Amino acid sequence: MQEKIVILDFGSQTTQLIGRRIRELNIYSEILPYNKYPFGQEQEQGIIGVILSGSPLSVYDKGAFTTDIAAIAARVPVLGICYGAQLMSLTAGGKVEPAPSREYGRAHLTYIDASCPLFKGIETGAQVWMSHGDTITALPEGYSCVASTPEVRFAAFAAPGKMWGVQFHPEVYHSECGMQLLRNFAVDICGASCSWSAESFIESTVAELRRQLGNDRVILGLSGGVDSSVAAVLLNRAIGSNLTCIFVDHGMLRKNEFADVLRDYECLGLNVRGVDASDKFFADLAGATDPERKRKIIGADFIEVFDAEAHKITDAKWLAQGTIYPDCIESLSITGTVIKSHHNVGGLPERMNLKLCEPLRLLFKDEVRAVGRALGMPEHLISRHPFPGPGLAVRILGEVTREKVAVLQEADHIFIKGLRDSGLYDQVWQAGVILLPVQSVGVMGDERTYERAVALRAVTSTDAMTADWAHLPYEFLAKVSNEIINKVRGVNRVCYDISSKPPATIEWE
Ligand code: XMP
Repeated sequence: MQEKIVILDFGSQTTQLIGRRIRELNIYSEILPYNKYPFGQEQEQGIIGVILSGSPLSVYDKGAFTTDIAAIAARVPVLGICYGAQLMSLTAGGKVEPAPSREYGRAHLTYIDASCPLFKGIETGAQVWMSHGDTITALPEGYSCVASTPEVRFAAFAAPGKMWGVQFHPEVYHSECGMQLLRNFAVDICGASCSWSAESFIESTVAELRRQLGNDRVILGLSGGVDSSVAAVLLNRAIGSNLTCIFVDHGMLRKNEFADVLRDYECLGLNVRGVDASDKFFADLAGATDPERKRKIIGADFIEVFDAEAHKITDAKWLAQGTIYPDCIESLSITGTVIKSHHNVGGLPERMNLKLCEPLRLLFKDEVRAVGRALGMPEHLISRHPFPGPGLAVRILGEVTREKVAVLQEADHIFIKGLRDSGLYDQVWQAGVILLPVQSVGVMGDERTYERAVALRAVTSTDAMTADWAHLPYEFLAKVSNEIINKVRGVNRVCYDISSKPPATIEWE
């Protein structure tokens, strides 16, 4: 049984980060909604410890999220973070009140109980990150204060049994001693063996896939992206030629991408069928200008083309997908409803009457990349930027035509090649060019022009949920702008998008 630390999610923005931090310690972690804890099944499920996340709620809000912490702590050690710590304290008879002022930002621990195992190796003066509106003003009987900051007396406490609480956020990078604290909890207190790694994941997943799939045939849709590519190589290692991959070209990929990626896949030994369905997509998109309508047409066409191709493999039993952990984690909204993020090809498995196989569903993006590297995949496939399923269609504002795609492909190619050549590609999360439905006056040679404008978009991010515009050097932007205007016919103006997400989004549509 895979040992794991469970993170109970009370709706904090940093819940996923807690999960990631634990994985960085080579310990498997799983995030569960606060009301889905498998009470009493710790041993069967390999749970060796539980972390309670923060929350945007107050513990004394009506309908505040809660769980039976004592029942969990009776079986495994529990660490409460922020709201989790307050809840622990409140439910045991302590007092939580609104802080005189909301505390946000760095603070320093001025008192630490050196005998507390949670603080092993952490010294006074250590920087932590606070973000809370409420504070614990009285600890329950039997609880003891194990750390303080000048503003927060009960910055951390130890409770009878194996329970601890911290008011600050050890999971954020600004908490310098945070990793040490999480290690103390997970390794020393919970006894984790730290054996989770890309290699161990591959070994156990390949064995599991062989057991699960036996001699069955499996179909997988490749997109050229990291997730589906790694899923394919992993499955190929497990079941070899029983895996058939389908790569659909909807005509809105990057310049030369279909041919290049198809070649990469073949070099990796994958059994892959490339399907050029671009005529159908362009025909169906004719006249469509509404972004949602464009997405729906592309989604429906994709399913139709994929389905038709898959039906040629008459004995297929499984549909494999490169779904990754952030796609699966049920996130809590402030109202307490559980939201599940949509998937590009939602509805496909039901329609095809195939069983679903998602070998990467437990991995974060960087772990998928680590697995890809450990499988020997080429770096350019692994470190590739994310690219939207509908491709350049969401970067052409208004109607999509072959001619516009061709213009955008050229401009995009210059920008992406420029990023690679300047060593900037790996510093940005994602980049691309947007074709604007705007024409503007220019002058080229002695002639007046009236041509298109494009916007360059490059962002930094860790998960695409939030993003900042990449502060690319002016010289670089100047060079790319020049090259696009000189080489791409029909474009006479280049802008750089300096909006962050939120309130903007990464794509323009
Ligand atoms: P936004 O524009 O919402 O994008 O900030 C966040 C991330 O999702 C990608 N994206 C999509 N991916 N189908 C996809 O597969 C889509 O319809 C889609 N729309 C946006 C976007 O490229 C970014 O990485």
